[in-house]
Amino acid sequence: MLRLDKFLCEMNIGSRSQVKTYLKQGFVTVNGKPVTKPETKVDENKDTVAFKGKPCVYRRYVYYMLNKPQGVVSATQDNECATVTELLKDTGYKDLFPVGRLDKDTEGLLLMTNDGELAHDLLSPKKHVKKVYYVELDKPFTHQDAFRLKEGIDIGECKKTLPASVELITENSIYLTITEGKFHQVKRMMNAVGNHVTYLKRISMGSLQLDETLGKGDYRELTEEEIENLKQREL
Ligand code: URA
Repeated sequence: MLRLDKFLCEMNIGSRSQVKTYLKQGFVTVNGKPVTKPETKVDENKDTVAFKGKPCVYRRYVYYMLNKPQGVVSATQDNECATVTELLKDTGYKDLFPVGRLDKDTEGLLLMTNDGELAHDLLSPKKHVKKVYYVELDKPFTHQDAFRLKEGIDIGECKKTLPASVELITENSIYLTITEGKFHQVKRMMNAVGNHVTYLKRISMGSLQLDETLGKGDYRELTEEEIENLKQREL
């Protein structure tokens, strides 16, 4: 059960004060009857709340995939740079945050949600969620380099990196799959084999694949199937 004004705010009907005005104006019904009191308790799973005659289906959590462009930081707030949350401001959800971070110059898949539990699960170092990156490099990448990454490599942490897998695309580009998320991990791994990343894009995270029809900076809601797969930890 939750307060009707909270319910309506969470459904992005408006701010707390706008919602109060709408209630006074008689725009809201619960189970078909007009309700004007903001403190009225509703059962989000049973009651039918409608705004201007349209039913509002309660969704506590929302999930978006963003094709992060370069030049934007993976944060909810920043004093200097544009943030990924600003890119999603038209959704109306003010509590979205990025699940993990991509560097300012990295592009690609970033999951944005307000579901802390799922985010925690996907980011937990214990869960070893697979992340696939498309990487372009300064110098040719060799089979020997791939072997060293498969064995685990020293990037200046207490332990070597966990085994990573590499698919060679061209001399200077690869797909790299890692199961950790250390700061600048891909760049540091490439530096450790004497190379340098010139372009980096995340392609997938767990079961979630970047929708390649999304332009840079575009986003879309996850499908029910994508959400289910992520939650089932088919990672
Ligand atoms: N590894 C990096 O070096 N940068 C990223 O943005 C993501 C992974």
